[in-house]
Amino acid sequence: MKREKINPTMHEIKMKENDFIVSKTNAKGIITYCNEVFMEMAGYKEEELLRKNHNIIRHPHMPKVAFKLAWDLIKSGKEFFGFVKNMSKDGSFYWVFANITPDYNSNGEIVGYTSVRRKPSDKAVKTIEPIYEKMCQLEKTGGMQASGKFLFDFLDENNITYDELVLSLQGE
Ligand SMILES: Cc1cc2nc3c(=O)[nH]c(=O)nc-3n(C[C@H](O)[C@H](O)[C@H](O)COP(=O)(O)O)c2cc1C
Repeated sequence: MKREKINPTMHEIKMKENDFIVSKTNAKGIITYCNEVFMEMAGYKEEELLRKNHNIIRHPHMPKVAFKLAWDLIKSGKEFFGFVKNMSKDGSFYWVFANITPDYNSNGEIVGYTSVRRKPSDKAVKTIEPIYEKMCQLEKTGGMQASGKFLFDFLDENNITYDELVLSLQGE
């Protein structure tokens, strides 16, 4: 049977309704744990992921400022919610609704982070995709300052906080 060749960069993999993608990192974002669903979606074996930087699945369509926002929050002990487009080993992409939280030791120091991801709502992806696209364009010339300004102006115009936007898009 002749198989049609697919262009992996155009190929979307969708999360299943009740699946969770889970990973843990040390305080620097180096992967220390990932579950089976993570490996299945990302297309990597466990030994290819452990001890690697979490940016191994970074997709170029993600604005840098999204990760800055995430890191600023989690480093200061807060949690991050957000929609993330990730890239699998073969170049396919998949969207997730991520929640990243800090992990503490018994002295109350942050020793790492945990991310749990679920299937994002279709509405969320449709809304966020063009916003991220615009932010990536702005980053090419004006850096994260320009993309951050665009995001915060958008939130101001809609009189909504970042968390309110994200949680309302997910339907929570
Ligand atoms: C627990 C945890 C989970 C993360 N998950 C992802 C992820 O799924 N995709 C991603 O691109 N970056 C993720 N990051 C952020 C990466 O550490 C990194 O900041 C991001 O990929 C941007 O990489 P860059 O600075 O090399 O551009 C995660 C970080 C932490 C701490």
